[in-house]
Amino acid sequence: MVAKDTMALAKASYDRCCQAPEFLQTFYKNFLAACPEAVPRFANTDFKTQTKLLRHAIGLLLIFPNQPNKEPNLLSRLAERHSRRDLDIEPGFYGPFVSSLLATVKQFDGMYSPTVEAAWRETIAPGVDYMTSKH
Ligand code: HEM
Repeated sequence: MVAKDTMALAKASYDRCCQAPEFLQTFYKNFLAACPEAVPRFANTDFKTQTKLLRHAIGLLLIFPNQPNKEPNLLSRLAERHSRRDLDIEPGFYGPFVSSLLATVKQFDGMYSPTVEAAWRETIAPGVDYMTSKH
């Protein structure tokens, strides 16, 4: 269970970040700099489309904890896409993905604080755990 207030703190932070059009491009820049092993995975990626898809998917990650625990769920299709049956994103990539996301939130959210960071971590953990469990 993630408390409603905690989820709301993370969502409000995300909304503030999304006001900057370059937020998600900066996230990818940060992620690929922190995790050069991921660079070849994005060799054929159109980042304009990709950032739009990611904008929506982070929104899903942030509401995942209050969804019924059943299949299929909000993240089923995305988890299948990242699984060994498709993109084959190994679970080890998710740690750098999350730290780069939080580093980027810190850059863009003027109200960032340890409480906001903790809210992000707690809120996205169930979705990230779900995706890695489906690898
Ligand atoms: C919870 C974390 C993640 C979320 C929410 C997420 C979200 C997305 C979304 C929405 C797409 C587009 C889906 C589609 O093609 O239908 C995508 C594609 C992709 N993701 Fe992720 N992703 C996550 C983690 C990762 C990680 C850790 C990697 C590591 C390298 C990664 C690599 C990719 C790649 C290579 C693609 C395909 C890009 C392309 O079409 O060229 N993702 N991701």
